Amino acid sequence: MNKSTLLLSLALIVLSGLTASVHTSTKDEWKKRTIYQLLTDRFSVGGPNGHECDNLSNYCGGTFNGIKSQLDYIQGMGFDAIWISPVVENTDGGYHGYWAKDLYKINPRFGTEDDLRSLVDECHKRDIWVMVDVVYNHVGPIDTEYSQIKDFNKPEHYHTKCQVTNFNDPGNMEFCRLSNLPDLDQNHPEVHKILSDWTVWLVEKFNLDGLRIDTVAFINKDFWSALKKETLEGRLKDIYVVGEVFDGRSDFINQYGSIIGGVLNYPMYYTVQNVYGRSESMYQIRNRMYEQDAVFSDADALGTFIDNHDNNRFLNLQGDWKLFMNALTYTIFGRGIPIVYYGSEQLFNGAHDPFNRETLWNKFNTQSDMYKFMSKLVNTRRNHIDNIAASKQVERYITDKLYAFTRGDVFVATTNVGSYRDQRIEFEVTYHEYAEGTTLCNIFYENDCVKVQNNKFPVVLTYGESKVFVPRK
Ligand SMILES: *[C@@H]1O[C@H](CO)[C@@H](O)[C@H](O)[C@H]1NC(C)=O
Repeated sequence: MNKSTLLLSLALIVLSGLTASVHTSTKDEWKKRTIYQLLTDRFSVGGPNGHECDNLSNYCGGTFNGIKSQLDYIQGMGFDAIWISPVVENTDGGYHGYWAKDLYKINPRFGTEDDLRSLVDECHKRDIWVMVDVVYNHVGPIDTEYSQIKDFNKPEHYHTKCQVTNFNDPGNMEFCRLSNLPDLDQNHPEVHKILSDWTVWLVEKFNLDGLRIDTVAFINKDFWSALKKETLEGRLKDIYVVGEVFDGRSDFINQYGSIIGGVLNYPMYYTVQNVYGRSESMYQIRNRMYEQDAVFSDADALGTFIDNHDNNRFLNLQGDWKLFMNALTYTIFGRGIPIVYYGSEQLFNGAHDPFNRETLWNKFNTQSDMYKFMSKLVNTRRNHIDNIAASKQVERYITDKLYAFTRGDVFVATTNVGSYRDQRIEFEVTYHEYAEGTTLCNIFYENDCVKVQNNKFPVVLTYGESKVFVPRK
């Protein structure tokens, strides 16, 4: 190696080091991930044992180091991404993180900047991506004592005080306060600039891979267009974001999804709740799929979920965990980027906020039936991800009680009969993608296998259980 090539290689090493320091991930890359959603305050205190929390409306003690100490638990189920609750310093009692006080400070209850950075580094070593929840709409509940908020300390940074009362009126939603939380005026040039610069600071400083955005429909679309263009696409190289538009109408959530790239699929959330949680007709899935085919240019970029921190858990509405398993089977393999709320794997059944924000410590049971079930589902998605990401969800059989579909080489059958009525469901599937003579085996029971003959194979569901067939290796 002569002197000039040596210098060139050194320069390249330095350059690649620099560019590698900002690694954001795009929408198409995120489509291959499966996300585990957790609240930092509720997930882990670090040691194996923590005190039971006596007041779920306040801090319970979870930390970034706690999360770092339980990555084996998350990774054991096959998840390769986490979404964590907001990390910035909050006003008193903001255990959930949605009450910002100082955007440029990390919430000391969760740890230090170094702790957060170290959590992200450890995640990246394990190829787990990190998505952080961010809020642009409001700050903590300080009524009109604006000087208490570090970055937005002048009355002019906010809209005039009024309350959101009409969730069908964009003007009311954009200009007034949600739960009396001071409503930022994103059109104020200082506010706009701080929000944009802070986003870049947060992502670059902590090397984040994606963002979940809170309360998207409470801010005007011009702000989102500008943030997307200048900041997310421009300065952050097209980082993937998934926004919360808490609404069951596909065309409504698409108004925001088409701007920022991804939104949570609330319409499908309601459908899944109806068909699995209430045993309503499976045709609702078909209809929702058709509707969303027509509305969304990229329905694969939607975040899909059964539970989150804002709604009663599935098992609170429907105690039959066989139905929950079917809903999970559908969600993990169905269209979209699946998001599983922490505690699902331990059959948590909390009601509305804050009861759906249980502490997980003392319950990291990797031998529970549900943990093992989750692990089979998510690891199978992971092991077949190239095939799944390249294939549409194609319906293969449907009745009121049965919905079966394929994603590439994975065949999925779900039912909503539940475990109390032991109904045997038998049907035959025609699918030309499996080679003649292929043996398909159910991921949940290794000896439950069928053979493909004349492009057909038989499926039998019993005890209200779902099945996932993959070709035997
Ligand atoms: C729980 O915490 C909230 C928030 O700080 C507080 O308002 C409430 O009084 C507390 N409840 C009990 C039973 O201590």
